[in-house]
Amino acid sequence: MILEKNRGNAVSGSRIAMSLGVSRNSVWKAINSLRKDGHVIEGGSGRGYVLARESDALSAEGISEGISKSIAADIDLHVFDSIDSTNKEAKRLAIGEPSRIQMIVSDQQTEGRGRMGRSFYSPKGSGIYISFLFAPTFPVSKATLATGAAAAATARAISSVSGKQCQIKWVNDLYYDGKKICGILTEGVTGIESRTIDYMIIGIGINCHPADLKEQAGENAGDLGGDISRNALAAEVANELLPLIKDLDPAGFMEYYRQHSNVIGENIRIFGSGISSRDGEGRPATATGITDNGGLEVEYSDGRKEVLTSGEISIRKDNSSTRRTK
Ligand code: BTN
Repeated sequence: MILEKNRGNAVSGSRIAMSLGVSRNSVWKAINSLRKDGHVIEGGSGRGYVLARESDALSAEGISEGISKSIAADIDLHVFDSIDSTNKEAKRLAIGEPSRIQMIVSDQQTEGRGRMGRSFYSPKGSGIYISFLFAPTFPVSKATLATGAAAAATARAISSVSGKQCQIKWVNDLYYDGKKICGILTEGVTGIESRTIDYMIIGIGINCHPADLKEQAGENAGDLGGDISRNALAAEVANELLPLIKDLDPAGFMEYYRQHSNVIGENIRIFGSGISSRDGEGRPATATGITDNGGLEVEYSDGRKEVLTSGEISIRKDNSSTRRTK
C-alpha cells in the first residue's frame, strides 16, 4: 500500500516499519514475498524500497488504492493470480446470496468465457479479467442496458487511466487501433423460485499489455499497447461502472456510447438475431443509430428499417463480404 502510493519513489524500510507498526525484519520479509509474487521492487534496506513504475503486478492493495471511498464501501474485492473464469467465480459467490457487490479480478483465466459459447483467451500478466456480481436494483426490463453501460464505463476508465481513446463496436466490444482489446459478457442468475433475475454478472476482459494473442484469439485481437497500470484500470472500471448500474439510466452513458461508436453510419453485416443469413455471410445493412435502449437501428437496401436488440455485426469497409469477427 505504502509502496503503491509512492510508486517510483524510494520509501525507507524504517518508515514502512513505523507506519505499519512492525519490525524492519518483517518489512524485509514482506518485500521479498511481494517480489516473489512478481512485483518489481528495487532497492534494499539502507537505500529504501521503490515499487518500479513499470511493475504492473495485480494486487488487492493496488486496486483498493484506486477505488473511491464511496464505491469501496459497497463492494467485496476478490483478487486471484489464476482462476477458471471470474464469471464462474461470480456464479459460485451468488449461491451465498451476498448483499454487497462482489468484484472478482484475476491475472489469468484458464477457462475464460466469451459470448455465444466462445472462449476468451486470458493469458497471465497482460490483461485484466473482472466480474461484478450484484443484485439488480433496476427493473428487469432494463437489464439489456447493462452491457452498453459496461462498454461506456470501461472506455471511460481506459481514457482516464491512460489517455487512450477506444471505440465501441455494438454491442459490447471495445476497439483500439483497429483491434478488439476488450470483450464483455453479461449474464443473469435466475432464482428457481423467484423466476426473475436475482443477480447479474458483468464480466469484462481487457488486453492491456502486448501478448501473443493471434493464435488463440485471432487476427482481430489487439491490446492497449502497455504503459498502463492494471490495478488503476481495474479500480477505475469499478468507479465508472458501479454508479451506472444503480438505475441504468441511459442519460448516464448513452451519449458517450454513441459518440464513441464505430458502427454508426457504417455498412455492416448482421449475424444471429433470428436473421436467416444466406451462405453464412450475414445480412448486409447500414447502421443508422443507437436507441436509448441500446438497440442498433439499421436500414436494409430495400429501405426497410429495423432495431436490433441482439445478435452480432461485422463492419464492411467496402462492399465485399467480411468475415465475422470474434
Ligand atoms: C466476448 O468478447 O465474447 C466476451 C468476453 C468476456 C470476457 C470476460 S473476462 C472476465 C469475465 N470472465 C469470463 O470468463 N468472461 C468474462
